[in-house]
Amino acid sequence: MTRPRLLDLFCCEGGAAVGYHRAGFDVVGVDIEHQTRYPYEFHQGDAMTWPLDGFDAVHASPPCQDHSALSTLHAKHGTAWMLHATIERLTAWGGPWVVENVEGADMPGSLTLCGSEFGLTARTQDGKVRLLKRHRRFVSNVLLMGAGGCHCSASRGRIVGVYGDGGGGAMTRGYKGDLAESREVMGMPWASRHGVSQAIPPAYTQFIGEQVLAHLAVPA
Ligand SMILES: C[S@@+](CC[C@H](N)C(=O)[O-])C[C@H]1O[C@@H](n2cnc3c(N)ncnc32)[C@H](O)[C@@H]1O
Repeated sequence: MTRPRLLDLFCCEGGAAVGYHRAGFDVVGVDIEHQTRYPYEFHQGDAMTWPLDGFDAVHASPPCQDHSALSTLHAKHGTAWMLHATIERLTAWGGPWVVENVEGADMPGSLTLCGSEFGLTARTQDGKVRLLKRHRRFVSNVLLMGAGGCHCSASRGRIVGVYGDGGGGAMTRGYKGDLAESREVMGMPWASRHGVSQAIPPAYTQFIGEQVLAHLAVPA
């Protein structure tokens, strides 16, 4: 039986891709950088102009740096425009689409998911089992149900964050996962330090992908 095809724009090393594949999609990724760790069919190219024809659904994760809390501390990257331009383009395309970004992004009507809703944990070097705190926003033209509610604020002292390209351990912002801890808690054993810090955990997109598949199964 053929599986529906999902185009994964701004795919990086494929955190989102693996979740959609587990949900039941065949996945094709596009990124401006060459991605040697992406686990499915990959094309290097510009996601802002990549053809959308022939796909049953599209996911996009435009660059988040200019929407994150840290962007007020560092220079802007000039990529903030891509988020709304992508939503406009996918709306005009008309098929089922999902766009993801960070908590600081202006995404009215978005659904926020957190690792604590999916029981994503890692045993860290200090001997604790820590929950992933990772809030990501999703907007879609498919009605998306939530996952039950984040409980990371009730788990203070047992949280791990995944960000940046180096270091790990107890930091002023809380406990930061090293590479092994980050791979474990994100569920991405194939990823580099950079790839895991950029990614959506596959558990989030499996949850969303199952809802998009259910939407595709309903006759128009
Ligand atoms: C936040 S990461 C995506 C993470 C991915 N969804 C995952 O779950 O692993 C954003 C990616 O967008 C890519 N990118 C930036 N500008 C792009 C463009 N114009 N076209 C395609 N990819 C681009 C970056 O190279 C980076 O890999």
